[in-house]
Amino acid sequence: MSERLALYKGKSKTVYDIGKPSELLVEFRNDATGGNGAKHAVLEEKGRVNCAFDAFIMAMLAENGIKTHWLKKVSDTEIVVRRLDMLPIECIVRNRAAGGICKRLGIERGRVFAPPIFEFFLKDDSLGDPIITEDHIFMMQLASKENLASMKVLTHRVNNILKPFFAKAGFDLVDFKLEFGYYQGELLLGDEFTLDGCRLWDIQSGEIYDKDRFRLDLGDVIQFYKKASTRLGIL
Ligand code: C5P
Repeated sequence: MSERLALYKGKSKTVYDIGKPSELLVEFRNDATGGNGAKHAVLEEKGRVNCAFDAFIMAMLAENGIKTHWLKKVSDTEIVVRRLDMLPIECIVRNRAAGGICKRLGIERGRVFAPPIFEFFLKDDSLGDPIITEDHIFMMQLASKENLASMKVLTHRVNNILKPFFAKAGFDLVDFKLEFGYYQGELLLGDEFTLDGCRLWDIQSGEIYDKDRFRLDLGDVIQFYKKASTRLGIL
């Protein structure tokens, strides 16, 4: 790979300029963080496993008509993506109750949401990524009504593609987070889809295969990421 300049170092990925105006290189690192960075660990093989997981899911979404930033995998831990102008908004869909919604609304863990619940969050570490309404987004001029509607529709479409895919391998897709950005005026899916950004439970046993293993100190984080990836035909 030619000269590269780190543009942004996130909690688990580093984004590099590779001298092309419309492309970026993303490196998946072995870092794991929780509690908005309060907890940190370096987990061997995490970057490789997440890179493979993300590549597989992004390709599958593209095959199913979702436009994404993803272009190609260039090493075990690196991908090349389209350079998006990212929106500071997180789109979350919940098929069942876990994590934030249980704490916020006192809802019993595991409750099934039919239809699924959609939420917007503001991506701002200094504010602790608060949940926000559409009116907040318009007031802060973060996105147009049309683009918000598109993000919501696209996130539900991703859920409709991924939920049955995971179910076939015996997994319940509990919830997940997506981020979008503009590319030449068009809204595309950016960021990543890995076990760091979704909740995946074994349908039979309820066993946790996602980042909650790290957040909740359940142990064997990467072993479970690898087991899930193997069952899904990714590794
Ligand atoms: O914490 P909460 O329950 O709101 O998270 C919902 C889903 O979004 C989980 O799958 C979590 O991993 C993901 N998420 C994320 N990044 C954040 C917040 C949530 O990937 N900053």
